[in-house]
Amino acid sequence: MCGIVGYVGDKQAYPIIIKGLKRLEYRGYDSAGVSIGNKDGILVLKEKGKVADLEAYAADRDSTGSIGIGHTRWATHGVPNQVNAHPHLSGDGKLSLIHNGIIENYDSIKQTLISKGHTFKSDTDTEVLVHLIEYFKEKEQVNLFEAVRLALNHVVGAYAIIVMEQGINNEFIAARKGSPLLIGIGKGEYFVASDASPIVEYTREVVYLGDGEIARINKDEELDIKTIANMSKTPFIEELELSLEAIEKGGFSSFMLKEIFEQPKSVIDTLRGRINPETKEITLGGISDYEQKIMNADRIIIVACGTSWHAGLIGEYLFEDLARISVEVEYASEFRYRNPIINENDVVLAISQSGETADSLAALELAKEKGATLLGICNVVGSSIPRLTHAGSYTHAGPEIGVASTKAFTTQIIVLTLMAIKMAHKKGTITMKKYHEIITELELIPEKIEKILKKNDQIEKIAAEFKDATNFLYLGRGYNFPVALEGALKLKEISYIHAEGYPAAEMKHGPIALIDDEMPIVIIATKKGNYDKVLSNIQEVKARGGRLIAIVTEGDKTVKELADYCIEVPDCLDELSPLLTNIPLQLLSYHIALMRGCNVDMPRNLAKSVTVE
Ligand code: M6R
Repeated sequence: MCGIVGYVGDKQAYPIIIKGLKRLEYRGYDSAGVSIGNKDGILVLKEKGKVADLEAYAADRDSTGSIGIGHTRWATHGVPNQVNAHPHLSGDGKLSLIHNGIIENYDSIKQTLISKGHTFKSDTDTEVLVHLIEYFKEKEQVNLFEAVRLALNHVVGAYAIIVMEQGINNEFIAARKGSPLLIGIGKGEYFVASDASPIVEYTREVVYLGDGEIARINKDEELDIKTIANMSKTPFIEELELSLEAIEKGGFSSFMLKEIFEQPKSVIDTLRGRINPETKEITLGGISDYEQKIMNADRIIIVACGTSWHAGLIGEYLFEDLARISVEVEYASEFRYRNPIINENDVVLAISQSGETADSLAALELAKEKGATLLGICNVVGSSIPRLTHAGSYTHAGPEIGVASTKAFTTQIIVLTLMAIKMAHKKGTITMKKYHEIITELELIPEKIEKILKKNDQIEKIAAEFKDATNFLYLGRGYNFPVALEGALKLKEISYIHAEGYPAAEMKHGPIALIDDEMPIVIIATKKGNYDKVLSNIQEVKARGGRLIAIVTEGDKTVKELADYCIEVPDCLDELSPLLTNIPLQLLSYHIALMRGCNVDMPRNLAKSVTVE
């Protein structure tokens, strides 16, 4: 939800900011803008559309200056247009501000400011904030650092902001609460961004600004950080592990395709160092102090959103089936508002690629208040969820930039599997034979995924047959029911075709009415699990003329006779089958979206990191 970048130093700020915004564009892409400070004042350039549109708009402008801030927007308050694009200026035009988040009490602040003579140009909450800072600066006759602090004391909501001031070309102020922000430290220069991708090219030394902290960032001085409550903080400098190659397309036409094809490697990275090659013992360092707590928990409550919620459902099957621990899987956004019963013996596990999803964070905050143990499974190292939780495990999938989650989902399932079998082993709820069987199979997953990826051409041909469909039904049972949900989500979010995922047996309770000879039905019918039952479901679809695409186990002959198209996946334990069956569904959505002319990396209305409620 919005990406922000700032630079102050001796280099030209504009190209650094534009490059940074392109890296952050996955966070929002309905408008973009920059403010550049130079001897003439603050130059503000904004445009509706993508960063490339801003570049075109700014092409013949003089953007010289060695301090600047930039923003790529995902609209919350106010339609995406040039006026509502960031940066926003104070009434006197001397302050310029960019913001990621939502100021919840913006309307009451706005009314107060209007009563004091302020006028507003945009519909945004952000413009209200910059006016509020201006108000305190004038009223209290303080510097910008202090004015920002005073203003933020009156703000309810989430924000990551950078504010710059006309005539001060060596310093700006950044602050955050609830939205991510990190500061890269160079030699006589600083970089500020929503994530590390705009920074990694210039420096590896970073400070993750804490919640409720404000930084005065002066190119010639050490970082000066304090809290909103006016307590000084010593900056904690960390080393970035991210590589530049990881955030580039590396020869692929899109990040989504790159990330789909990266999955064998991502799985290897997720497993790396976690299975002892001799004893096959699992070590999940991040949760080792909490294993007892998890084993003895009354329940594990999984909170997540979107694709991560689907991974959570697979986690439920794994934990209950293997470790006999009771699990509830909750949409984070619903959980927090339904007065849930949580106690100290509950473990609340948040699953999130970004580690920044506002609803998941809020669900964790609630669970924290009730005394539960908080765990996280996240991909982005150092993000807010790992900072909030007591313990957790990273997926180590590397940066996922395509808005549609692919490798994050696969690696979340890997971590959930490791956790579940670790617990099952400790509790003695599975035999050693079963334990070794699962470990052996896990280690084979990368090469099996590799095999499925070789079917890309076949899947592309199937996609061509179905690209004009207006509705899809995805069916699966048991471990593959969440895969059906995920397949449907993937298709709708990138191709804009309506799709629904259903447990195959539920079809007869309603969705069967949708089936006619126009309707494509994707069904997961692998050999293990409820194969015979799924066969009956296939018959039911055929009897109504539906067009069937089946995901089957290699060598399957029965389904081949019934389905219009079959995509084979290697044989695999039922518990691990989602790791394979999900891959062809990603490719199917990808090709259909591409054939329909959709932007697979930046689907309309979406953003990668949903940092608003
Ligand atoms: O970063 P998170 O895993 O917390 O994000 C959750 C959802 O917003 C995310 O999975 C979303 O549904 C994706 N666009 C799905 O591809």
